[in-house]
Amino acid sequence: MIKTTYKKLLKQKHVKPITCLTAYTNSMAKILDGIVDVVLIGDSLATVLYGMKNTRTVSLEMIKYHGRAVTKNIKQSLTIIDMPYGTYNNKYQALKNAKNIIKFTKADLIKIETDSKNIGILKYLTKNKIKVVGHIGITPQKFKDFKKIRSVGKTNKEEKSLISLALNLEKAGAKFIILECIKLHVAKKITNILKIPSIGIGSSKYCDGQVLVLNDMLNIDTNEIKPKFVKKYTNINKVVRGAVKKFTKEVKNKKFPSKNFSYL
Ligand code: KIV
Repeated sequence: MIKTTYKKLLKQKHVKPITCLTAYTNSMAKILDGIVDVVLIGDSLATVLYGMKNTRTVSLEMIKYHGRAVTKNIKQSLTIIDMPYGTYNNKYQALKNAKNIIKFTKADLIKIETDSKNIGILKYLTKNKIKVVGHIGITPQKFKDFKKIRSVGKTNKEEKSLISLALNLEKAGAKFIILECIKLHVAKKITNILKIPSIGIGSSKYCDGQVLVLNDMLNIDTNEIKPKFVKKYTNINKVVRGAVKKFTKEVKNKKFPSKNFSYL
């Protein structure tokens, strides 16, 4: 079992797309390990696991415990963990919290949602030997209401500022940049300009890698409207409902537990 390294993934740029999915629990981590290149312990756990309205209510403790549940089951994939909202408001707070999260979870990299105002924070973290991932385009921590999320990069002004942000983050030491909901032609330009890999979510096939929220692509929460970029690879909701109905029927009919499932 060989652990994927950042160096290996860097070499994949323009050669072989990088795959990334989120995981928040040990069982999902065990399934993903070694299949995807990167496992992201995303603060999307707020909406996905806890039914919160946005990601702003994730605490340091929440991400740490989910992070540890995941990383202790990951032997091969690279791991990235999100810094929650409000935990990287200034460089000193960011470094203290990043060290705390990494010490507890042993995740390989940390991710912060970035804009032109916090490039200095990313720079300070990398100077202090923390491997950091930037996140541009739509940065969910800025949204109280996810229904207001739209794609970005429509105007020349938006395009210019996204390109310049990506380049500045690379200069500041970012190891990857997540591009979220960025128009195809802009994501393509950013990916071509950068030396580090871009990982897209709703940002076209031209990124160096792709990330999706695991629960979305498994179609677990069928009653929720998902963004356009979410491809549902299966219908786990249907599978689980089927099993639950079968269990209920067997219990009601006194078929379960049969002798095979009893201590005689
Ligand atoms: O928290 C998360 O799952 C993320 C992805 C949407 C990239 O940041």
